[in-house]
Amino acid sequence: MSDNVYIPKLSKIFEIKEEVTGARAIKTFRTQFVENNGFSHKCGQCAMLSVFGKGESMISISSTPLVKDYLQFSILKTGRVTSALHEMQEGDVIGVRGPYGNNFPLEKWKGKNLIFIGGGIGLAPIWSVLQTALAKKADYGKLSLFYGSRTSQDIVYKEDLKELKNDITVHLSIDQKEKEWEEYVGFVPLNVLDKKPSPKNAVAITCGPPIMIKFVIQNLEALGFKDDQIYTTVENKMKCGIGKCGRCNIGMHYVCKDGPVYSWAELKKLPQEY
Ligand SMILES: Cc1cc2nc3c(=O)[nH]c(=O)nc-3n(C[C@H](O)[C@H](O)[C@H](O)COP(=O)(O)OP(=O)(O)OC[C@H]3O[C@@H](n4cnc5c(N)ncnc54)[C@H](O)[C@@H]3O)c2cc1C
Ligand code: FES
Repeated sequence: MSDNVYIPKLSKIFEIKEEVTGARAIKTFRTQFVENNGFSHKCGQCAMLSVFGKGESMISISSTPLVKDYLQFSILKTGRVTSALHEMQEGDVIGVRGPYGNNFPLEKWKGKNLIFIGGGIGLAPIWSVLQTALAKKADYGKLSLFYGSRTSQDIVYKEDLKELKNDITVHLSIDQKEKEWEEYVGFVPLNVLDKKPSPKNAVAITCGPPIMIKFVIQNLEALGFKDDQIYTTVENKMKCGIGKCGRCNIGMHYVCKDGPVYSWAELKKLPQEY
């Protein structure tokens, strides 16, 4: 067997779910390693997916590590590689190498209230940690989710979110009014400000477009959250994924190795190159 770290493991796509159609299409893929040579991951880690002949893209592993027999990836169609992934069919084989990066410190958060705040495809990295905390609910305080998308059509994991409402508080939002929509209308940071989650014994985990993250953090601060109570992920462009090429750097930090998960306290100390 080769010890070349750039060689991906062959993985078969066995399930594809069309989450969102149209210009900002999102599909969720479930994959299984073809040979018995897979890896286990931690919440927040990513993998480099390759479409042979097209290239590679770094994608968050959105399934919980508690599920051992497949990996899940939710992918927004963006450019060359992600478009090629969207063309793939169930039964097709892709390359997967990883897992890469650090992880959300779930162990450290035991006993705390966890507030998940996602926007758009930013629910994918949160999903893994949310599902894990949910499966070990007794270890944590209150769990809640804020999730927003541009329109009701752009919501990912629609059926799962419906089910999730039986277990935890879910605050959904869309950017502009729609006829049948009965939940919050407005941007995610405003929904957070509206519902005023308490910072007492809490940790907030936010992923989404950088502009959303910026205002979510501002509003969490206004509600009294301290820098070490806020966690996010940084998605700088990546090439090698293993701290060799320097593509993902923030100052001396390799986001692919030292990140992508950072507390706001940690991020504030780094140059604003994200
Ligand atoms: C740690 C990490 C986790 C990620 N997790 C997910 C995920 O779970 N789901 C998902 O859909 N995407 C995720 N991404 C983003 C994904 O890697 C890029 O969208 C993808 O690599 C684009 O490749 P492409 O060949 O399709 O597009 P390209 O043809 O390379 O580029 C198309 C456009 O997308 C822009 N782009 C490329 N990479 C990025 C990036 N990292 N951030 C912002 N813009 C970019 C380019 O500048 C260009 O404008 C993640 C990125 C990182 C670094
Ligand atoms: S992606 Fe190459 S060093 Fe991080």
